[in-house]
Amino acid sequence: MAKSAYIHIPFCAHKCDFCDFAAFAGLDDLSDQYTKTVISEIEGRLKEQPNNHKLQTVFFGGGTPGYVDPKQLGAIIASLDNETGLEKDAELCLETTPQTITVEKCKQWQSFGIKRISIGIESLNDKELIALSRGHTREQARAGFATARAGGFTNIALDLMYGLPEQTLESWRQTLDDLLALEPEHISAYGLTIAENSPLLIRYPRESDVYPDEDTFVLMYETLVQKCSDAGLFQYEIANFAKAGYESKHNLTYWKNEEYLAFGVSAHRYYRGTRSSNFRSLRRYMRDYLLDETSESIDEQTKMKEAIFLGMRLRQGLDLKIFQRDFGVDLTQSRASELEKLQDGGFVEIADQKLRLTQKGVLMSNSVLSELI
Ligand SMILES: C[S@@+](CC[C@H](N)C(=O)[O-])C[C@H]1O[C@@H](n2cnc3c(N)ncnc32)[C@H](O)[C@@H]1O
Ligand code: SF4
Repeated sequence: MAKSAYIHIPFCAHKCDFCDFAAFAGLDDLSDQYTKTVISEIEGRLKEQPNNHKLQTVFFGGGTPGYVDPKQLGAIIASLDNETGLEKDAELCLETTPQTITVEKCKQWQSFGIKRISIGIESLNDKELIALSRGHTREQARAGFATARAGGFTNIALDLMYGLPEQTLESWRQTLDDLLALEPEHISAYGLTIAENSPLLIRYPRESDVYPDEDTFVLMYETLVQKCSDAGLFQYEIANFAKAGYESKHNLTYWKNEEYLAFGVSAHRYYRGTRSSNFRSLRRYMRDYLLDETSESIDEQTKMKEAIFLGMRLRQGLDLKIFQRDFGVDLTQSRASELEKLQDGGFVEIADQKLRLTQKGVLMSNSVLSELI
């Protein structure tokens, strides 16, 4: 049973050089047909495997869901409502770029129940935005935020990246100061990851010194945590910060290892004990939308590992009592020696029956977690 659904909308005004998502520019002609395919997928999959639960969250990710005709999102929402139902106060969220936002669109989105908007700002430094081939300037980014507010959004999340070409600790500080002055309800900030075949690498090879070095990268993360905390944004996950009550309910589904539906090209779901994904090729998805590209049935052992891996991302930590209830395992006993080593090294701590990464542990989270699972 799933209380959340992810919908992938793959269309963008232009393709950014760093982006490795299923996101396509210049295929706008397909978007009507794509919407119909997603609706057929929702109907087909939920007929085959009904979900006897109303949805509490729906997340339109991409791609740029804010770029397409809002009516297409409205049609998908109506189909979800029909096939599984939506809670009255469900968190409906959409991702978009700053330059797609208009007051009219905000009103249309809200008329379908979308109350949260997540804007990809990435940086407020023009040199960095050009280096990323981002397609918007600092001023356009700020204008996008102002338009979302003027359009009535009281729950705005901003996405940022660090470790960018041309970025310095000073320019990152400035981006954070300017961004926090806007008083967003939520910030997500991820280190730039560069895929092997990324066009960004042609202009900025990996070993080039335009990227911040490792020490600077660590300082950037620490600056992020400090500045968000000073601004009253609570760090509730390794890379996510929110005012009280504005945490992303949708993403909490993932981190709590709960099941969710997913529809659209390349979308990944966790449903009825199986993790599966749709085709990443747009043409293949539109032909074979009820087939999976990958599928893995999650056994108890894997589920346990995932619960540790995901739960430890939450700053409140992994609830050891709930873990014992769900899996019948007391981690403080079964992993006693590993935990002692990690505690002695200052990487994890246990308080109030919660096992959590320390700030030092967060910086090395992958190696710390691999010790545990
Ligand atoms: C699908 S995009 C958000 C919506 C919209 N397409 C946009 O770009 O503004 C989701 C977010 O993922 C992050 N992202 C994309 N590519 C990334 C990469 N290579 N490394 C780190 N973060 C990335 C960016 O912060 C981006 O805003
Ligand atoms: S980062 Fe966003 S706008 Fe840029 S290509 Fe990816 S999905 Fe599209």
